[in-house]
Amino acid sequence: MAYFFEEPSHTFNEYLLVPGYSSAQCQPKNVSLKTPLVKFKKGEEPALSLNIPLVSAIMQSVSNDTMAIALAREGGVSFIYGSQTVEAQAEMVRKVKNYKAGFVPSDSNIAPYQTLQDVISLKEKTGHSTMAVTEDGTPNGKLVGIVTGRDYRISRMSLDTKVSEFMTPFEKLVTAKSGVTLKEANDIIWDNKLNALPIIDDEQKLEYFVFRKDYESRKSNPNELLDDSKRYVVGAGINTRDYATRVPALVEAGADVLCIDSSEGFSEWQKLTIEWIREHYGDSVKVGAGNVVDAEGFRFLAECGADFVKIGIGGGSICITREQKGIGRGQATATIEVAKARDEYFKETGIYVPICSDGGIVHDYHMTLALAMGSDFIMLGRYFSRFDESPTNKVNINGQYMKEYWGEGSARARNWQRYDLGGDAKLSFEEGVDSYVPYAGPLKDNVGLTLAKIKSTMCNCGALTIPELQEKAKITLVSSTSIVEGGAHDVVLKDSTPSHNQ
Ligand code: IMP
Repeated sequence: MAYFFEEPSHTFNEYLLVPGYSSAQCQPKNVSLKTPLVKFKKGEEPALSLNIPLVSAIMQSVSNDTMAIALAREGGVSFIYGSQTVEAQAEMVRKVKNYKAGFVPSDSNIAPYQTLQDVISLKEKTGHSTMAVTEDGTPNGKLVGIVTGRDYRISRMSLDTKVSEFMTPFEKLVTAKSGVTLKEANDIIWDNKLNALPIIDDEQKLEYFVFRKDYESRKSNPNELLDDSKRYVVGAGINTRDYATRVPALVEAGADVLCIDSSEGFSEWQKLTIEWIREHYGDSVKVGAGNVVDAEGFRFLAECGADFVKIGIGGGSICITREQKGIGRGQATATIEVAKARDEYFKETGIYVPICSDGGIVHDYHMTLALAMGSDFIMLGRYFSRFDESPTNKVNINGQYMKEYWGEGSARARNWQRYDLGGDAKLSFEEGVDSYVPYAGPLKDNVGLTLAKIKSTMCNCGALTIPELQEKAKITLVSSTSIVEGGAHDVVLKDSTPSHNQ
């Protein structure tokens, strides 16, 4: 006989947090949102953690290299979408890994025998006034000096004056050796009152400039998520079909963590994919799996060796899986059950497998609820798609700016591999829609506000860390009438713009 769950399954909208005691210590500035990204043994530190509990969805309309850099700068991770060629996806990963915050490769290079006229033309072309003078004018040549706007006066000098006559020669430059940290480079800049510091290798070739003007913007990213070589951390989606070619390319490009992107992860396909990765890379390649919505699905993937497990079927804002196939579960109920399974597994084995609630987050407080219900981090599609950094068009519709947002299972993305049941691709059908979402501006401002709300609520619950929130949270189901009570009611709003709704 079929199995019946006793309780109806619930969404985040049906819950609220009941405040607990807040000590004087409970202030947002004291809250840490650090959380594990991959599994770890009791008493040990995870190999990878997030500084904020947010990751961006494995979707064409959400996670490209631009999004990944912006999110890592704030402390989270993007999973670059896998519904593109292996080469294109690896290239996006490479771009994130090659992006060195604060270290700028020189794109303006000139030779000492060139002229002031050449300097002026190059400045017009690149827009940069600081140029590297290299022996032969190529980026690979030995650095012999630099030219900045302070070295010449167009009104007083002949345009055929040679660069060697007015550049600041190498001997007079303050430089730093490659391997210097950003902090050390900044100290040198401040101590010597420089505008630009050239970083050179053992052969005196220029690797990067570090600019004084970038200092302020870097200082405002205290949470940025970096690997051991100070590069941004980035993830990538894979599927259960072409992993033998995709995984090596992504690993080679420097991906820090992979995730099997599938609408339903309780399958032999995921087992085979993880087994292949373990056989070829052992534990050195980190891979999450999913999605599941119950304890059985979690245990299966944990036993397969997944580094984290993603939860959620049918709850995504662009998702029509529940309508098309009648599978899924309320996201809150799924999160609560999987969190219990994760804790039991930890007790039994001493291995903590982080879980990620994926899809269905509408309001910021839904994120706090997901964390309180046991999620270690949260995957969001619609939320990030609204920002400048998402890879989609911004369009004006009836005077309101919108961004495009489409599902991986929509006819537009045609990512049928994430619905892999090994069947006939011709019989694939849509499980997602193509849509618009209200444009919301830069990621940094929005994420900053969201985190401020999460921290504030955590303080109301008397929690300064996510594990503490999970332990102390008191969560209540709400009745449908109390949901009405929760919004502004029985007043006539002067401004009906739903800005408070995010
Ligand atoms: P959102 O944050 O509510 O927009 O949900 C994003 C999540 O929806 C993704 O991380 C996926 O798990 C899921 N998803 C993405 N594309 C589709 C689709 O076309 N159909 C169903 N679910 C999707």
